[in-house]
Amino acid sequence: MQVNDIHNDIESVLISAEELEARVAELGAQISADFAGKNPLFVGVLKGCFVFMADLMRHVSIHCSMDFMAVSSYGNQTTTTGAVKITKDLNQDIEGRDIILVEDILDSGVTLNYLTEYLQVRKPASITIATLMDKPSRRKAPVHAKYAGFEVPDAFVVGYGLDYAETYRNLPYVGILKSEIYE
Ligand code: IMP
Ligand code: MG
Repeated sequence: MQVNDIHNDIESVLISAEELEARVAELGAQISADFAGKNPLFVGVLKGCFVFMADLMRHVSIHCSMDFMAVSSYGNQTTTTGAVKITKDLNQDIEGRDIILVEDILDSGVTLNYLTEYLQVRKPASITIATLMDKPSRRKAPVHAKYAGFEVPDAFVVGYGLDYAETYRNLPYVGILKSEIYE
């Protein structure tokens, strides 16, 4: 192991690469069935969505397109500031489109609640949420994810796209970070 090996900083593996692969395939198949005959627009919320979305899309077998938004999130903290700022918006018209918002993790719900209301104004046909992970115990805003890969406990997790201070996104599994890393 190298001295700066990211695996050293992980307390335990919460979701293995194999479990991720199997569940993401299921979600893709379910979305393909539910949206059969439609042409949804997948909107990924950067940056955390990027690994999940890339894997998910390859299990979606219907006509669809994709775009991305970026929001300011936790910075280097592990708890939310409550403020959401859009740093990259869509540059296409979504009126009448079926939108599938793709997130890495639904925590307080503040981000997705804000984004849903923000996009609703543009009159899409529907907005559906697909999140890799859901931490329902932490919910503050009324958000429900129709597609949720894994329900996770109230622990700070990293990997498979999720970061702590912009690090660990490249872990192939979802792990719980050693608390000494952020304390
Ligand atoms: P929410 O607005 O509180 O639902 O926060 C959602 C965003 O917070 C996610 O898109 C993540 O970027 C970040 N987040 C929440 N929990 C975690 C975690 O355990 N690890 C890494 N990022 C997290
Ligand atoms: Mg983040």
